[in-house]
Amino acid sequence: MILSSWLAVALLALGAGALPQRQVPLFKETTPVHGADVPSTPERRAEMAALLDKYAPVFKLSKNERFFPSSVAFMLERYGYVQYKNGTWYEPKPEWMTPEGLDQLPRRGKKQLLSVDVPFNAQPLFPDPESSFMYGPAGQEGGMEPGPDGRGRVHDEVYGFWVDQGRGVVDLIYWTFYPYNLGKDVGSLGCLGNHVTDWERLILRTVDGVAVSADFNTHSGGKFSAGTYRWSDMELIDDRPVAYVASGSHGIWPTPGKHVYAQLLNLWALVDVTDDYGPIWDSKGHVVPIEYWTGPDGAKKVNHTGDLSWLQFKGAWGNKGQTSCWWHALVGICQVVDGPPGPNRLFGQPPDCIISPKAEEVSSYSFYLSKNVTTQAEKLNVTTVVIEQVCARPRASNLKPEEDPWAKALDEKDLDVWLMSETVQYRGREQHSGSLPACDGSRSVAKAYRISLWDDKGYHVSTSGLRVICIYEEGRPGYVVSGGAHVDDLDEWRWWLLRPTPN
Ligand SMILES: *[C@@H]1O[C@H](CO)[C@@H](O)[C@H](O)[C@H]1NC(C)=O
Ligand SMILES: *[C@@H]1O[C@H](CO)[C@@H](O)[C@H](O)[C@H]1NC(C)=O
Ligand SMILES: *[C@@H]1O[C@H](CO)[C@@H](O)[C@H](O)[C@H]1NC(C)=O
Ligand SMILES: *[C@@H]1O[C@H](CO)[C@@H](O)[C@H](O)[C@H]1NC(C)=O
Repeated sequence: MILSSWLAVALLALGAGALPQRQVPLFKETTPVHGADVPSTPERRAEMAALLDKYAPVFKLSKNERFFPSSVAFMLERYGYVQYKNGTWYEPKPEWMTPEGLDQLPRRGKKQLLSVDVPFNAQPLFPDPESSFMYGPAGQEGGMEPGPDGRGRVHDEVYGFWVDQGRGVVDLIYWTFYPYNLGKDVGSLGCLGNHVTDWERLILRTVDGVAVSADFNTHSGGKFSAGTYRWSDMELIDDRPVAYVASGSHGIWPTPGKHVYAQLLNLWALVDVTDDYGPIWDSKGHVVPIEYWTGPDGAKKVNHTGDLSWLQFKGAWGNKGQTSCWWHALVGICQVVDGPPGPNRLFGQPPDCIISPKAEEVSSYSFYLSKNVTTQAEKLNVTTVVIEQVCARPRASNLKPEEDPWAKALDEKDLDVWLMSETVQYRGREQHSGSLPACDGSRSVAKAYRISLWDDKGYHVSTSGLRVICIYEEGRPGYVVSGGAHVDDLDEWRWWLLRPTPN
Protein backbone atom coordinates (compact mmCIF):
# COMPACT_ATOMS: atom_id res chain seq x y z
CA MET A 1 0.00 0.00 0.00
CA ILE A 2 1.16 3.47 -0.77
CA LEU A 3 1.06 5.68 2.22
CA SER A 4 0.98 9.34 2.83
CA SER A 5 4.69 10.05 3.18
CA TRP A 6 5.43 10.58 -0.50
CA LEU A 7 2.08 12.26 -0.94
CA ALA A 8 3.01 14.83 1.64
CA VAL A 9 6.25 15.54 -0.19
CA ALA A 10 4.55 15.74 -3.56
CA LEU A 11 1.91 18.05 -2.19
CA LEU A 12 4.30 20.39 -0.49
CA ALA A 13 5.86 20.90 -3.88
CA LEU A 14 2.44 21.36 -5.46
CA GLY A 15 0.99 23.69 -2.89
CA ALA A 16 3.84 26.10 -2.33
CA GLY A 17 3.27 29.46 -3.96
CA ALA A 18 -0.11 28.53 -5.36
CA LEU A 19 -2.05 29.76 -2.38
CA PRO A 20 -2.24 33.25 -0.90
CA GLN A 21 -0.95 32.39 2.51
CA ARG A 22 -1.40 34.13 5.80
CA GLN A 23 -0.42 31.39 8.20
CA VAL A 24 2.12 28.73 7.48
CA PRO A 25 0.05 25.56 7.40
CA LEU A 26 0.92 23.12 10.11
CA PHE A 27 0.07 19.50 9.61
CA LYS A 28 0.64 18.56 13.22
CA GLU A 29 -2.36 16.70 14.58
CA THR A 30 -3.40 17.80 18.02
CA THR A 31 -2.95 15.23 20.74
CA PRO A 32 -5.02 14.88 23.87
CA VAL A 33 -3.72 16.07 27.22
CA HIS A 34 -3.80 14.19 30.50
CA GLY A 35 -6.05 14.96 33.35
CA ALA A 36 -9.61 13.74 33.78
CA ASP A 37 -11.52 11.50 36.09
CA VAL A 38 -13.14 8.50 34.48
CA PRO A 39 -16.01 10.26 32.73
CA SER A 40 -18.34 7.42 31.89
CA THR A 41 -21.05 5.69 33.88
CA PRO A 42 -20.55 2.17 35.25
CA GLU A 43 -23.16 0.97 32.71
CA ARG A 44 -21.20 2.43 29.83
CA ARG A 45 -17.99 0.88 31.10
CA ALA A 46 -19.65 -2.52 31.40
CA GLU A 47 -21.02 -2.17 27.87
CA MET A 48 -17.56 -1.33 26.52
CA ALA A 49 -15.94 -4.19 28.42
CA ALA A 50 -18.49 -6.52 26.81
CA LEU A 51 -17.73 -5.06 23.37
CA LEU A 52 -13.99 -5.57 23.90
CA ASP A 53 -14.65 -9.17 24.87
CA LYS A 54 -17.11 -9.76 22.03
CA TYR A 55 -14.39 -8.96 19.47
CA ALA A 56 -11.42 -10.30 21.47
CA PRO A 57 -8.85 -11.36 18.83
CA VAL A 58 -7.40 -14.82 18.41
CA PHE A 59 -3.65 -14.36 18.08
CA LYS A 60 -1.79 -17.13 16.34
CA LEU A 61 1.82 -17.28 17.44
CA SER A 62 4.52 -18.74 15.24
CA LYS A 63 5.73 -22.33 15.56
CA ASN A 64 9.21 -20.79 15.90
CA GLU A 65 8.25 -18.39 18.69
CA ARG A 66 10.56 -18.41 21.71
CA PHE A 67 9.62 -15.03 23.18
CA PHE A 68 6.13 -15.38 24.60
CA PRO A 69 3.78 -12.74 26.03
CA SER A 70 3.27 -11.89 29.68
CA SER A 71 1.21 -9.60 31.84
CA VAL A 72 2.62 -6.26 32.89
CA ALA A 73 2.66 -7.48 36.51
CA PHE A 74 4.89 -10.44 35.58
CA MET A 75 7.54 -8.14 34.17
CA LEU A 76 7.31 -5.42 36.83
CA GLU A 77 8.37 -7.91 39.52
CA ARG A 78 11.48 -8.75 37.56
CA TYR A 79 13.06 -5.40 36.73
CA GLY A 80 16.25 -4.66 38.63
CA TYR A 81 16.66 -0.88 38.42
CA VAL A 82 15.48 2.30 36.69
CA GLN A 83 17.81 4.30 34.51
CA TYR A 84 17.55 7.92 33.42
CA LYS A 85 18.28 8.64 29.78
CA ASN A 86 21.41 10.48 30.90
CA GLY A 87 22.78 7.25 32.41
CA THR A 88 22.14 7.86 36.12
CA TRP A 89 20.29 4.97 37.72
CA TYR A 90 18.45 4.21 40.94
CA GLU A 91 16.87 1.29 42.70
CA PRO A 92 13.10 1.79 42.90
CA LYS A 93 11.11 0.97 46.03
CA PRO A 94 9.64 -2.54 45.62
CA GLU A 95 6.09 -1.19 46.03
CA TRP A 96 6.59 1.03 42.98
CA MET A 97 7.29 -1.95 40.76
CA THR A 98 3.67 -3.11 40.74
CA PRO A 99 0.70 -2.25 38.50
CA GLU A 100 -0.69 -0.14 41.39
CA GLY A 101 2.55 1.63 42.21
CA LEU A 102 4.37 2.37 38.96
CA ASP A 103 3.02 5.93 38.77
CA GLN A 104 4.88 6.66 42.04
CA LEU A 105 8.24 6.73 40.26
CA PRO A 106 9.87 10.19 40.28
CA ARG A 107 8.15 12.33 37.61
CA ARG A 108 6.08 9.29 36.70
CA GLY A 109 9.08 7.73 35.04
CA LYS A 110 9.53 10.48 32.47
CA LYS A 111 12.86 10.11 30.58
CA GLN A 112 13.51 6.87 32.45
CA LEU A 113 13.88 3.25 31.38
CA LEU A 114 12.72 0.26 33.42
CA SER A 115 15.71 -2.09 33.31
CA VAL A 116 16.56 -5.71 33.95
CA ASP A 117 19.86 -6.50 35.65
CA VAL A 118 20.52 -9.76 33.82
CA PRO A 119 22.08 -10.20 30.35
CA PHE A 120 19.59 -9.06 27.73
CA ASN A 121 21.12 -9.54 24.32
CA ALA A 122 19.64 -12.70 22.81
CA GLN A 123 21.63 -13.90 19.78
CA PRO A 124 19.14 -15.53 19.16
CA LEU A 125 18.72 -17.05 22.64
CA PHE A 126 19.84 -15.87 26.06
CA PRO A 127 23.28 -17.05 27.07
CA ASP A 128 22.35 -17.14 30.76
CA PRO A 129 19.57 -19.12 32.45
CA GLU A 130 18.89 -16.16 34.77
CA SER A 131 17.56 -14.23 31.75
CA SER A 132 15.10 -16.95 30.80
CA PHE A 133 12.10 -15.26 32.45
CA MET A 134 12.12 -13.04 29.36
CA TYR A 135 10.85 -16.02 27.36
CA GLY A 136 7.55 -15.31 29.20
CA PRO A 137 5.47 -17.72 31.30
CA ALA A 138 4.44 -19.81 28.28
CA GLY A 139 8.07 -19.99 27.16
CA GLN A 140 9.15 -21.88 30.27
CA GLU A 141 9.51 -25.64 30.44
CA GLY A 142 5.94 -26.97 30.71
CA GLY A 143 4.57 -23.42 30.42
CA MET A 144 1.90 -24.33 27.88
CA GLU A 145 -0.75 -26.98 27.76
CA PRO A 146 -1.54 -28.32 24.32
CA GLY A 147 -5.08 -27.95 23.01
CA PRO A 148 -7.01 -30.76 21.29
CA ASP A 149 -5.24 -29.85 18.03
CA GLY A 150 -1.84 -30.40 19.64
CA ARG A 151 -0.97 -26.71 19.46
CA GLY A 152 -0.06 -24.92 22.68
CA ARG A 153 -2.46 -22.54 24.40
CA VAL A 154 -1.46 -19.15 25.79
CA HIS A 155 -3.73 -17.23 28.17
CA ASP A 156 -1.93 -14.02 29.07
CA GLU A 157 -3.93 -10.85 29.37
CA VAL A 158 -4.34 -8.30 26.59
CA TYR A 159 -4.87 -4.60 27.30
CA GLY A 160 -7.98 -3.39 25.52
CA PHE A 161 -8.52 0.35 25.23
CA TRP A 162 -11.86 1.65 24.05
CA VAL A 163 -11.80 5.01 22.34
CA ASP A 164 -15.09 6.78 21.85
CA GLN A 165 -14.78 8.82 18.66
CA GLY A 166 -18.34 10.15 18.75
CA ARG A 167 -21.28 9.49 16.38
CA GLY A 168 -21.39 5.80 17.30
CA VAL A 169 -17.75 5.07 16.44
CA VAL A 170 -15.75 3.23 19.09
CA ASP A 171 -12.24 2.03 18.35
CA LEU A 172 -10.98 -1.01 20.24
CA ILE A 173 -7.23 -1.12 20.61
CA TYR A 174 -5.84 -4.44 21.75
CA TRP A 175 -2.29 -4.10 23.04
CA THR A 176 -0.15 -7.17 23.49
CA PHE A 177 2.86 -7.18 25.81
CA TYR A 178 5.99 -9.35 25.76
CA PRO A 179 9.04 -9.35 28.03
CA TYR A 180 11.36 -9.41 25.02
CA ASN A 181 11.60 -8.61 21.34
CA LEU A 182 14.03 -10.51 19.19
CA GLY A 183 15.27 -8.34 16.34
CA LYS A 184 16.19 -9.48 12.86
CA ASP A 185 19.10 -11.56 11.72
CA VAL A 186 21.35 -9.37 9.60
CA GLY A 187 24.04 -11.79 8.51
CA SER A 188 27.39 -11.37 10.19
CA LEU A 189 26.15 -8.44 12.29
CA GLY A 190 23.93 -10.82 14.28
CA CYS A 191 20.39 -10.10 15.43
CA LEU A 192 19.80 -6.36 15.28
CA GLY A 193 17.03 -4.46 17.02
CA ASN A 194 16.58 -6.61 20.11
CA HIS A 195 14.84 -4.89 22.99
CA VAL A 196 13.61 -5.64 26.48
CA THR A 197 9.79 -5.76 26.34
CA ASP A 198 7.60 -5.29 23.34
CA TRP A 199 4.23 -3.61 22.82
CA GLU A 200 2.22 -4.33 19.65
CA ARG A 201 -1.36 -3.43 18.78
CA LEU A 202 -4.36 -4.39 16.71
CA ILE A 203 -7.07 -1.77 16.25
CA LEU A 204 -10.68 -2.60 15.48
CA ARG A 205 -13.26 -0.05 14.49
CA THR A 206 -16.86 -0.51 15.58
CA VAL A 207 -19.82 1.57 14.48
CA ASP A 208 -22.95 1.30 16.64
CA GLY A 209 -21.48 -1.75 18.33
CA VAL A 210 -20.66 -3.62 15.11
CA ALA A 211 -17.10 -4.22 13.88
CA VAL A 212 -16.40 -2.80 10.42
CA SER A 213 -12.64 -2.80 9.93
CA ALA A 214 -9.25 -3.44 11.48
CA ASP A 215 -5.93 -1.66 11.35
CA PHE A 216 -2.84 -3.84 11.33
CA ASN A 217 -0.28 -1.18 12.24
CA THR A 218 2.70 -3.43 12.41
CA HIS A 219 5.63 -2.18 14.51
CA SER A 220 5.66 1.59 14.18
CA GLY A 221 3.22 1.48 11.28
CA GLY A 222 4.02 3.01 7.94
CA LYS A 223 4.48 1.94 4.38
CA PHE A 224 4.89 -1.78 4.92
CA SER A 225 2.19 -2.34 7.50
CA ALA A 226 -0.76 -4.39 6.35
CA GLY A 227 -2.91 -1.30 6.93
CA THR A 228 -6.69 -1.09 7.10
CA TYR A 229 -8.79 -4.17 6.32
CA ARG A 230 -12.51 -4.41 5.77
CA TRP A 231 -14.19 -6.82 8.14
CA SER A 232 -15.38 -8.92 5.19
CA ASP A 233 -11.75 -9.36 4.06
CA MET A 234 -10.58 -10.70 7.39
CA GLU A 235 -10.20 -14.19 8.75
CA LEU A 236 -12.72 -14.59 11.56
CA ILE A 237 -13.57 -17.17 14.19
CA ASP A 238 -17.04 -16.64 15.72
CA ASP A 239 -17.03 -13.13 14.27
CA ARG A 240 -13.75 -12.42 16.07
CA PRO A 241 -10.57 -11.46 14.22
CA VAL A 242 -7.72 -13.89 13.70
CA ALA A 243 -4.32 -12.23 13.71
CA TYR A 244 -0.92 -13.74 13.00
CA VAL A 245 2.00 -12.76 15.20
CA ALA A 246 5.50 -12.63 13.75
CA SER A 247 8.07 -14.83 15.39
CA GLY A 248 10.34 -12.89 17.75
CA SER A 249 9.31 -9.37 16.79
CA HIS A 250 5.56 -9.86 17.33
CA GLY A 251 4.26 -7.67 14.50
CA ILE A 252 0.57 -8.40 13.94
CA TRP A 253 -0.54 -9.44 10.45
CA PRO A 254 -3.81 -10.54 8.88
CA THR A 255 -2.35 -13.58 7.12
CA PRO A 256 0.35 -16.23 7.53
CA GLY A 257 3.45 -15.76 5.39
CA LYS A 258 6.43 -13.48 4.90
CA HIS A 259 5.92 -9.76 5.31
CA VAL A 260 8.64 -7.29 4.43
CA TYR A 261 8.20 -4.28 6.68
CA ALA A 262 11.38 -2.26 6.31
CA GLN A 263 14.62 -2.05 4.48
CA LEU A 264 18.08 -1.39 5.90
CA LEU A 265 20.22 0.55 3.44
CA ASN A 266 18.50 -1.25 0.56
CA LEU A 267 20.59 -4.24 1.54
CA TRP A 268 18.65 -6.20 4.07
CA ALA A 269 14.90 -6.56 3.99
CA LEU A 270 13.46 -6.82 7.46
CA VAL A 271 10.92 -9.59 7.25
CA ASP A 272 8.18 -10.62 9.64
CA VAL A 273 7.38 -14.29 9.35
CA THR A 274 4.01 -15.61 10.49
CA ASP A 275 2.55 -19.10 10.23
CA ASP A 276 -0.49 -21.12 11.17
CA TYR A 277 1.23 -23.94 13.08
CA GLY A 278 2.18 -22.43 16.43
CA PRO A 279 0.52 -21.81 19.78
CA ILE A 280 -2.86 -20.10 19.95
CA TRP A 281 -3.47 -17.10 22.17
CA ASP A 282 -7.21 -16.58 22.32
CA SER A 283 -7.77 -13.36 24.23
CA LYS A 284 -11.45 -13.95 24.94
CA GLY A 285 -11.97 -13.66 28.68
CA HIS A 286 -8.49 -12.15 29.05
CA VAL A 287 -9.00 -8.57 27.89
CA VAL A 288 -8.39 -5.90 30.54
CA PRO A 289 -10.83 -3.09 29.63
CA ILE A 290 -9.37 0.42 29.69
CA GLU A 291 -11.10 3.72 29.01
CA TYR A 292 -8.89 6.04 26.98
CA TRP A 293 -10.29 9.56 27.00
CA THR A 294 -13.25 11.80 27.67
CA GLY A 295 -14.37 11.59 24.07
CA PRO A 296 -13.57 13.74 21.06
CA ASP A 297 -14.96 16.99 22.49
CA GLY A 298 -13.11 17.12 25.80
CA ALA A 299 -10.22 15.13 24.31
CA LYS A 300 -8.64 14.56 27.71
CA LYS A 301 -6.98 11.30 28.59
CA VAL A 302 -8.39 9.53 31.63
CA ASN A 303 -6.27 9.43 34.79
CA HIS A 304 -6.01 5.81 35.83
CA THR A 305 -5.80 4.63 39.42
CA GLY A 306 -5.71 1.36 41.37
CA ASP A 307 -4.42 -1.61 39.41
CA LEU A 308 -4.39 0.49 36.22
CA SER A 309 -2.05 3.13 37.73
CA TRP A 310 0.77 1.74 35.59
CA LEU A 311 -0.89 3.43 32.61
CA GLN A 312 0.27 6.79 34.05
CA PHE A 313 3.91 5.74 33.68
CA LYS A 314 5.66 7.97 31.15
CA GLY A 315 8.93 6.17 30.59
CA ALA A 316 10.20 3.25 28.52
CA TRP A 317 9.58 -0.39 29.36
CA GLY A 318 13.05 -1.76 28.74
CA ASN A 319 16.77 -1.18 29.05
CA LYS A 320 18.75 1.44 27.24
CA GLY A 321 20.10 0.20 23.92
CA GLN A 322 23.60 0.30 22.49
CA THR A 323 24.98 2.95 20.16
CA SER A 324 28.61 1.90 20.14
CA CYS A 325 28.63 -0.73 17.38
CA TRP A 326 30.74 0.17 14.35
CA TRP A 327 27.80 0.01 11.96
CA HIS A 328 25.57 2.33 14.04
CA ALA A 329 26.44 5.31 11.85
CA LEU A 330 25.35 3.31 8.81
CA VAL A 331 22.11 1.66 9.84
CA GLY A 332 21.21 3.50 13.04
CA ILE A 333 20.75 0.45 15.22
CA CYS A 334 22.93 -2.02 17.10
CA GLN A 335 22.06 -5.45 18.42
CA VAL A 336 20.13 -3.93 21.33
CA VAL A 337 17.93 -0.86 21.07
CA ASP A 338 15.95 1.09 23.72
CA GLY A 339 12.87 -0.47 25.26
CA PRO A 340 9.56 0.84 23.88
CA PRO A 341 7.16 3.37 25.42
CA GLY A 342 3.91 2.12 26.93
CA PRO A 343 0.52 1.74 25.24
CA ASN A 344 -1.30 4.79 26.60
CA ARG A 345 -0.86 6.92 23.50
CA LEU A 346 -1.59 7.27 19.77
CA PHE A 347 -5.34 7.06 19.99
CA GLY A 348 -8.10 9.26 18.70
CA GLN A 349 -6.49 8.96 15.30
CA PRO A 350 -8.28 7.91 12.14
CA PRO A 351 -7.53 4.53 10.52
CA ASP A 352 -4.59 4.22 8.10
CA CYS A 353 -7.04 4.74 5.29
CA ILE A 354 -10.65 5.78 4.97
CA ILE A 355 -12.54 2.84 3.49
CA SER A 356 -14.88 4.09 0.79
CA PRO A 357 -17.02 2.58 -1.95
CA LYS A 358 -16.09 3.20 -5.55
CA ALA A 359 -17.73 6.04 -7.47
CA GLU A 360 -17.89 6.25 -11.25
CA GLU A 361 -18.04 9.81 -12.52
CA VAL A 362 -18.29 11.93 -9.42
CA SER A 363 -16.56 11.63 -6.07
CA SER A 364 -18.29 12.75 -2.94
CA TYR A 365 -16.72 13.73 0.36
CA SER A 366 -18.39 14.25 3.70
CA PHE A 367 -16.56 14.95 6.94
CA TYR A 368 -16.62 16.74 10.27
CA LEU A 369 -14.41 19.27 11.97
CA SER A 370 -13.59 18.76 15.63
CA LYS A 371 -14.66 21.22 18.28
CA ASN A 372 -11.02 22.09 18.67
CA VAL A 373 -10.77 23.05 14.99
CA THR A 374 -14.03 25.00 14.86
CA THR A 375 -13.05 27.01 17.95
CA GLN A 376 -9.82 27.97 16.26
CA ALA A 377 -11.51 28.52 12.88
CA GLU A 378 -14.12 30.89 14.24
CA LYS A 379 -11.47 33.10 15.82
CA LEU A 380 -9.85 33.25 12.40
CA ASN A 381 -13.09 34.17 10.61
CA VAL A 382 -13.15 31.05 8.48
CA THR A 383 -16.07 31.09 6.05
CA THR A 384 -15.05 28.64 3.35
CA VAL A 385 -13.78 25.09 3.21
CA VAL A 386 -11.98 23.71 0.19
CA ILE A 387 -12.04 19.95 -0.33
CA GLU A 388 -8.92 18.76 -2.12
CA GLN A 389 -8.94 15.37 -3.81
CA VAL A 390 -5.44 13.99 -4.41
CA CYS A 391 -5.25 12.12 -7.69
CA ALA A 392 -2.34 9.90 -8.63
CA ARG A 393 -1.43 7.96 -11.74
CA PRO A 394 1.61 5.82 -12.53
CA ARG A 395 3.87 7.35 -15.17
CA ALA A 396 3.24 5.48 -18.38
CA SER A 397 6.95 5.25 -19.21
CA ASN A 398 7.53 3.01 -16.21
CA LEU A 399 4.87 0.53 -17.13
CA LYS A 400 5.07 -2.75 -18.88
CA PRO A 401 1.71 -3.54 -20.47
CA GLU A 402 1.09 -6.62 -18.36
CA GLU A 403 2.05 -4.95 -15.12
CA ASP A 404 -0.50 -3.97 -12.53
CA PRO A 405 0.79 -0.48 -11.76
CA TRP A 406 -0.60 -0.45 -8.24
CA ALA A 407 0.57 -3.92 -7.23
CA LYS A 408 3.82 -2.66 -5.78
CA ALA A 409 4.65 0.29 -3.63
CA LEU A 410 5.60 3.05 -6.01
CA ASP A 411 7.97 5.89 -5.43
CA GLU A 412 7.00 9.48 -5.84
CA LYS A 413 9.08 9.64 -9.00
CA ASP A 414 6.96 6.93 -10.61
CA LEU A 415 3.75 8.89 -10.20
CA ASP A 416 1.97 11.94 -11.43
CA VAL A 417 0.12 13.57 -8.60
CA TRP A 418 -2.41 16.35 -8.97
CA LEU A 419 -5.14 18.03 -6.98
CA MET A 420 -8.78 18.64 -7.76
CA SER A 421 -10.77 20.88 -5.50
CA GLU A 422 -14.25 21.98 -4.60
CA THR A 423 -15.31 24.88 -2.41
CA VAL A 424 -18.08 24.54 0.15
CA GLN A 425 -19.39 26.78 2.86
CA TYR A 426 -17.99 26.48 6.36
CA ARG A 427 -20.59 24.78 8.57
CA GLY A 428 -18.94 24.57 11.98
CA ARG A 429 -19.66 21.30 13.77
CA GLU A 430 -22.20 20.15 11.24
CA GLN A 431 -21.30 17.66 8.57
CA HIS A 432 -19.58 19.18 5.56
CA SER A 433 -20.07 17.64 2.17
CA GLY A 434 -19.23 18.28 -1.42
CA SER A 435 -18.70 16.50 -4.68
CA LEU A 436 -16.31 16.84 -7.57
CA PRO A 437 -15.43 14.93 -10.72
CA ALA A 438 -13.54 11.66 -10.33
CA CYS A 439 -9.82 11.71 -11.17
CA ASP A 440 -9.43 11.44 -14.90
CA GLY A 441 -7.73 8.50 -16.61
CA SER A 442 -8.13 4.74 -16.52
CA ARG A 443 -5.25 4.06 -14.12
CA SER A 444 -5.88 7.05 -11.91
CA VAL A 445 -6.73 6.72 -8.28
CA ALA A 446 -8.36 9.08 -5.84
CA LYS A 447 -5.59 8.41 -3.36
CA ALA A 448 -6.21 10.83 -0.53
CA TYR A 449 -7.97 13.99 0.47
CA ARG A 450 -7.39 16.97 2.66
CA ILE A 451 -9.19 20.19 3.46
CA SER A 452 -8.18 23.79 3.63
CA LEU A 453 -9.85 26.67 5.39
CA TRP A 454 -10.25 30.19 3.98
CA ASP A 455 -11.42 33.36 5.70
CA ASP A 456 -13.97 36.05 4.87
CA LYS A 457 -11.33 38.13 3.08
CA GLY A 458 -10.40 35.28 0.77
CA TYR A 459 -7.14 34.43 2.53
CA HIS A 460 -5.93 30.92 3.05
CA VAL A 461 -5.94 30.17 6.77
CA SER A 462 -4.71 26.60 7.08
CA THR A 463 -4.58 23.21 5.40
CA SER A 464 -5.03 19.87 7.12
CA GLY A 465 -2.78 16.83 6.74
CA LEU A 466 -3.75 14.07 4.33
CA ARG A 467 -6.09 11.17 4.77
CA VAL A 468 -5.48 8.22 2.49
CA ILE A 469 -8.49 6.60 0.84
CA CYS A 470 -8.98 2.86 0.22
CA ILE A 471 -11.62 2.15 -2.40
CA TYR A 472 -13.63 -1.05 -2.64
CA GLU A 473 -16.25 -2.39 -4.96
CA GLU A 474 -19.31 -4.08 -3.51
CA GLY A 475 -19.02 -7.87 -3.73
CA ARG A 476 -15.28 -7.88 -4.47
CA PRO A 477 -12.59 -8.59 -1.90
CA GLY A 478 -9.75 -6.14 -1.28
CA TYR A 479 -9.41 -2.70 -2.79
CA VAL A 480 -9.68 -1.49 -6.37
CA VAL A 481 -8.11 1.15 -8.58
CA SER A 482 -10.69 3.87 -9.02
CA GLY A 483 -10.59 7.53 -9.85
CA GLY A 484 -13.66 8.20 -7.76
CA ALA A 485 -14.92 7.35 -4.28
CA HIS A 486 -17.77 8.09 -1.94
CA VAL A 487 -15.88 9.15 1.15
CA ASP A 488 -17.98 9.30 4.29
CA ASP A 489 -15.36 10.21 6.87
CA LEU A 490 -16.48 9.64 10.45
CA ASP A 491 -13.28 10.86 12.10
CA GLU A 492 -13.33 14.51 12.94
CA TRP A 493 -10.48 16.52 11.51
CA ARG A 494 -8.19 17.70 14.29
CA TRP A 495 -5.18 19.88 13.74
CA TRP A 496 -3.50 23.09 14.80
CA LEU A 497 -4.55 25.92 12.53
CA LEU A 498 -2.12 28.37 14.04
CA ARG A 499 1.49 28.23 14.90
CA PRO A 500 1.38 28.28 18.74
CA THR A 501 2.42 31.80 19.73
CA PRO A 502 5.72 31.89 21.61
CA ASN A 503 5.46 33.65 24.97
C1 LIG B 1 -6.85 22.13 20.85
O1 LIG B 1 -6.19 21.00 21.43
C2 LIG B 1 -4.95 21.28 22.03
C3 LIG B 1 -4.42 19.99 22.62
O2 LIG B 1 -4.20 19.05 21.65
C4 LIG B 1 -5.09 22.31 23.12
O3 LIG B 1 -3.82 22.63 23.63
C5 LIG B 1 -5.75 23.56 22.55
O4 LIG B 1 -5.98 24.48 23.59
C6 LIG B 1 -7.07 23.21 21.89
N1 LIG B 1 -7.63 24.39 21.31
C7 LIG B 1 -8.91 24.70 21.43
C8 LIG B 1 -9.34 25.97 20.76
O5 LIG B 1 -9.70 24.00 22.03
C1 LIG C 1 -4.88 13.82 36.38
O1 LIG C 1 -3.46 13.75 36.40
C2 LIG C 1 -2.80 14.97 36.13
C3 LIG C 1 -1.33 14.70 36.13
O2 LIG C 1 -1.00 13.89 35.06
C4 LIG C 1 -3.16 15.98 37.22
O3 LIG C 1 -2.52 17.21 36.94
C5 LIG C 1 -4.66 16.17 37.24
O4 LIG C 1 -5.03 17.02 38.29
C6 LIG C 1 -5.38 14.84 37.40
N1 LIG C 1 -6.80 15.07 37.23
C7 LIG C 1 -7.72 14.56 38.04
C8 LIG C 1 -9.15 14.91 37.72
O5 LIG C 1 -7.45 13.84 38.97
C1 LIG D 1 20.35 12.69 35.16
O1 LIG D 1 19.03 13.18 35.30
C2 LIG D 1 18.51 13.09 36.62
C3 LIG D 1 17.07 13.58 36.59
O2 LIG D 1 16.96 14.80 35.94
C4 LIG D 1 19.37 13.90 37.59
O3 LIG D 1 18.87 13.75 38.90
C5 LIG D 1 20.80 13.39 37.50
O4 LIG D 1 21.63 14.19 38.32
C6 LIG D 1 21.29 13.44 36.07
N1 LIG D 1 22.63 12.82 35.99
C7 LIG D 1 23.62 13.34 35.29
C8 LIG D 1 24.89 12.56 35.28
O5 LIG D 1 23.50 14.40 34.67
C1 LIG E 1 -12.24 38.57 12.32
O1 LIG E 1 -13.25 39.53 12.01
C2 LIG E 1 -13.37 40.55 12.98
C3 LIG E 1 -14.58 41.40 12.60
O2 LIG E 1 -14.52 41.76 11.25
C4 LIG E 1 -12.08 41.34 13.06
O3 LIG E 1 -12.18 42.35 14.04
C5 LIG E 1 -10.93 40.39 13.40
O4 LIG E 1 -9.71 41.08 13.36
C6 LIG E 1 -10.88 39.23 12.41
N1 LIG E 1 -9.88 38.28 12.87
C7 LIG E 1 -8.94 37.80 12.08
C8 LIG E 1 -7.96 36.85 12.71
O5 LIG E 1 -8.87 38.10 10.90
